Amino acid sequence: MRLRSLLFVPGDRPDRMEKALGLSADALILDLEDSVAPARKPEARKAVASFLRSAERRARLFVRINALDSGLLEDDLAAVLDARPDALVLPKAEGSASVEALAALAPGVPILPIATETPSAIFQLGSYVAARDLLLGLTWGAEDLPAAIGATTARNEDGSYTSPYEVVRSLTLFAGHAIGAAVVDTVYPDFRDSEGMQRYAQRARRDGFTGMMAIHPSQVPVINAAFTPAADEIARAVAIIDAFSVNPDAGVLQLDGRMIDAPHLRQARRIIEASK
Ligand code: COA
Ligand code: MG
Repeated sequence: MRLRSLLFVPGDRPDRMEKALGLSADALILDLEDSVAPARKPEARKAVASFLRSAERRARLFVRINALDSGLLEDDLAAVLDARPDALVLPKAEGSASVEALAALAPGVPILPIATETPSAIFQLGSYVAARDLLLGLTWGAEDLPAAIGATTARNEDGSYTSPYEVVRSLTLFAGHAIGAAVVDTVYPDFRDSEGMQRYAQRARRDGFTGMMAIHPSQVPVINAAFTPAADEIARAVAIIDAFSVNPDAGVLQLDGRMIDAPHLRQARRIIEASK
């Protein structure tokens, strides 16, 4: 099942959950963490559990719980697990040990760690492979890490990441593909900048991310479009696959004057897969 767009909805906003379900998001992330003020956590738990129980599952329904050491996680899980979320999003994750700790409390629920929110987390990115069977995929964040290290921002004036955060984004990309799971790019917070959003999502797909998180309804169609192969890409992929199927013994061929070999064939199959 496709997982292009994952839309955050604050856990204390049931009106917005209902609205979010009417969009074309592949998944909703019902948030119990940073978008919910401490005093409203109990209300948010109830709202999320009740939505999980009653909602038509037109999108996959994920829950972002609070971090392992937050003191809030046990109550989060007690409220939502029986209502069968499709996955748990784990903030401030620090490698396979965090995933195993959460899986022990929530057996059988796939986990999507936000894998870059603390300095130590960066050095654990390579460890997720060991917990691959527990993982839905990997994602990253560019908001908590700068705050954790006293950086003033993760972004340049033009919205691009500063070099430390480019590194972190790239490490997540490779760590995610090392697992062979979904690799989800982080949110684009400037939700009124639709052109910047489109460029960001297109770059995410170009670089190898398989989907992206959203914070606002307007971002969902842009993400879905960016992660859906265009007609000309599909046509070229079909042509590559056809060229090899009529020449089964060829390792390398040419198509429109350009060399194609095994990586191009792999890429073509991926495009066909992503277009389904
Ligand atoms: N899910 C569902 N609906 C949403 C939504 C969301 N995440 N964000 C906005 N909407 C709806 C609003 O309810 C509104 O609907 P209406 O036109 O029927 O009244 C419409 O979209 C337009 O909203 P808008 O006025 O542009 O935004 P806002 O100022 O009310 O809210 C945010 C802006 C950022 C606070 C809001 O988009 C939001 O809460 N996003 C998610 C934040 C989050 O979960 N962050 C944690 C992870 S980074
Ligand atoms: Mg956060």
